[in-house]
Amino acid sequence: MSKTVLLTGGAGFIGSALVRYLINQTDTVVINVDKLTYAGSLHSLGGADASQRHHFYQYDIIDTEAMQALVDKHQPDYIMHLAAESHVDRSIDGPGEFIQTNIVGTYNLLQVALGYYQSLEGAKKDAFKFHHISTDEVYGSLGETGLFTETTRYKPNSPYSASKASSDHLVRAWNKTYKLPVVVSNCSNNYGPFQFPEKLVPLIIQKAVAGEPLPIYGKGDNIRDWLFVDDHVKALWTIATQGENGEVYNVGGHNEKTNIEVVTIMCAILDDITPRAGGKKYAEQIVYVADRPGHDRRYAIDASKIERELGWTPQETFETGIRKTVEWYLGNVEWVATVSGGYSGDRLGSK
Ligand SMILES: NC(=O)c1ccc[n+]([C@@H]2O[C@H](COP(=O)([O-])OP(=O)(O)OC[C@H]3O[C@@H](n4cnc5c(N)ncnc54)[C@H](O)[C@@H]3O)[C@@H](O)[C@H]2O)c1
Repeated sequence: MSKTVLLTGGAGFIGSALVRYLINQTDTVVINVDKLTYAGSLHSLGGADASQRHHFYQYDIIDTEAMQALVDKHQPDYIMHLAAESHVDRSIDGPGEFIQTNIVGTYNLLQVALGYYQSLEGAKKDAFKFHHISTDEVYGSLGETGLFTETTRYKPNSPYSASKASSDHLVRAWNKTYKLPVVVSNCSNNYGPFQFPEKLVPLIIQKAVAGEPLPIYGKGDNIRDWLFVDDHVKALWTIATQGENGEVYNVGGHNEKTNIEVVTIMCAILDDITPRAGGKKYAEQIVYVADRPGHDRRYAIDASKIERELGWTPQETFETGIRKTVEWYLGNVEWVATVSGGYSGDRLGSK
């Protein structure tokens, strides 16, 4: 029998990819709850919202009554919680929204989920899970060596990562104290189609083709572990459906790259697909700007637990995924223009 998933943040970057996957590749009924902040757009659903299995609600997860009514009405088998304020630079300029949505919102959803779970019976109760989607940034920064595992100590450094760390702790406590069945996943940097153009990969593509400077924070030697969004989505569905109650799974792409490597690779792809006039190279547009305050040096994920226990491995290499991503942005300038709204591409979070 088909499952019903109540998914928060389904109009955002990763959430919309999850919705497209569930609608196009499974028979799941999707209850998509999203406030439609600057980062959310129904244009990111790629037509999946036309399906009769997709039900959209423009709600704030802080709204207890609305969330309560939704679970009562749709009786989900799983709740997958992705809604969040997600941009580190914005969290530096204005942490308040991050505290509200990421911490208070998660608390609210846990309370609603708990009440709903306690009302269930039999097989439906046994199979219910609350899946909290989180980030590797909760672990803080690595030195030259080592990897984040599921038991790495939490040491968040930005208001964003601290708010996500708080929400992870709440989820753990609702499992240990109230016996709410939960799974938590902590994932590395995602890239791919439909990401709001404030984040590194889409920002660089927009600025490159506009002939603008390509800003690199600090020396560009900060390292992130990059994962193609569709690989993440498959990991999320695997964790929601097969993950063990109370367990944490790290998700990563085995693609450690410095920021300057990422940008240089994208410039080379752009040189190949849409060469600049006069034989100039896109990499000539790179400029180094003041570093982000509290900028974590290196993130790298040990994803062996999800591989070993749930059989998930990423399918894209960075080279294949980033080429698909660049091609997608070049072919979807209308989407970029539609979602960009008031965002000009200017630097955020430099205070
Ligand atoms: N992007 C990454 O690289 C990455 C990596 C690891 C984990 N994550 C986590 O994955 C989740 C999704 O990230 P993303 O990159 O898709 O973020 P995003 O910013 O693209 O999307 C977030 C979505 O949540 C919605 N939202 C925000 N506040 C809300 C509220 N109060 N009520 C209801 N909806 C609200 C927004 O409208 C938006 O559609 C987040 O929890 C994030 O912490 C992201």
